[in-house]
Amino acid sequence: MDHFLYRNGALHAEDVPVAEIAAAVGTPFYVYSTATLLRHFQLFDEALEGLDHLVCYAMKAASNQAILKTLAKAGAGMDVVSGGEYMRAKAVGVPGDKIVFSGVGKTAAEIRLALEGGIRQFNVESEPEMEVLDATARAMGQVAPITIRVNPDVDARTHAKIATGKSENKFGIPISRAKEVYALAASMPGLDVVGIDVHIGSQLTDLVPFELAYRKVAELTTQLRAEGHDIRRLDLGGGLGIPYARDNQAPPLPSDYGAMVKRTLGHLGCEIEIEPGRLIAGNAGIMVSEVIYVKSGEDRDFLIIDGAMNDLIRPAMYEAYHDIVPVVEPAPGAEQATFDIVGPVCETGDTFARGRQMPAVTAGDLVAFRSAGAYGAVMSSEYNSRPLIPEVLVNGDQFAVIRRRPTFDEMINRDTIPEWL
Ligand code: LLP
Repeated sequence: MDHFLYRNGALHAEDVPVAEIAAAVGTPFYVYSTATLLRHFQLFDEALEGLDHLVCYAMKAASNQAILKTLAKAGAGMDVVSGGEYMRAKAVGVPGDKIVFSGVGKTAAEIRLALEGGIRQFNVESEPEMEVLDATARAMGQVAPITIRVNPDVDARTHAKIATGKSENKFGIPISRAKEVYALAASMPGLDVVGIDVHIGSQLTDLVPFELAYRKVAELTTQLRAEGHDIRRLDLGGGLGIPYARDNQAPPLPSDYGAMVKRTLGHLGCEIEIEPGRLIAGNAGIMVSEVIYVKSGEDRDFLIIDGAMNDLIRPAMYEAYHDIVPVVEPAPGAEQATFDIVGPVCETGDTFARGRQMPAVTAGDLVAFRSAGAYGAVMSSEYNSRPLIPEVLVNGDQFAVIRRRPTFDEMINRDTIPEWL
């Protein structure tokens, strides 16, 4: 469910007509709904009710500070994967003890940053990382809380580029070696082993792979406890998928997921953390773009819009599907047309959809990409020297620009020309 609906013939973001925002900020832009963000966070929070738990929003999905603050005020913790994300979380006042640090390649500098500012735990992914963490913590007179990310060798049945839980993926340590790696961690005085971490992939549309992985985690918890490790926290990662196309079968709901977590892990008495990103932010954002031209090709019509792959890379990168709808509501029975929907970037890959059937639109019309809130703005670039597009947050009948569009000067003046030129 989201809060981008047609009302009085026009697409609204909550109570604000999308066209009004377009008139104020220009196109293309991202707009997010506060109500959707909060609703999705609360669905997870409620799904885990009864368990000692913390929902740590995977801020890689959408990390504008206004979004982070909205969620943090509702009680969310944060899952960060870089020094930059850590600083963003801190900048909006998230306390260190609600921040978990994930990722295979944490540098010593990033580790120091988090130890200085406070951290709930590091999710450690390898023995070399463990050594650096141990040495850094000891040098700072600290003991770093850690979980170890295990790779359960489970097929997440999602797009290959976003599956992480198979043995051939770079993530975690093989679950078969967990015992020896936990023993090594326990021998390091700079580390306090608090639990186990697992994350098998993103955009999962089925609970079975989660359940297979979590059963392995439950088994491992019992084994490690028998070896004397005080396993008291389980970080279950993120990954629950969202419906991208309206006619697709909807993925399981957070409540189904929560029930499965309770069923598989509830008896262990551990504190449960989850790291959802996409499900919180995905359907809480749309990208709005204007049609520049309709160009007739030999055997097809191209809808050339002012948004491009640099603004929303998911279709080019993962062949991802996004619903693309006119901002003016089509009349019932309105004429349909078939387009290849493309951006202005000079690559054939700058294609959002091929042979897409949609209500006929023409130059000057606005279109909205639905489900673009997660992995949209955060993955954008200035390729072709296209300035990053603005982000807007709606709350009821108000909206605010939460990142403005830079001027050309701001963009090009970040370069410095050496004095010998
Ligand atoms: N935790 C860890 C350790 C992760 O690596 C990820 C996502 C998450 C949590 C959040 O997963 P989510 O709930 O959002 O599925 N750019 C891709 C998605 C990459 C996901 C990376 N890791 C896309 O646009 O589909």
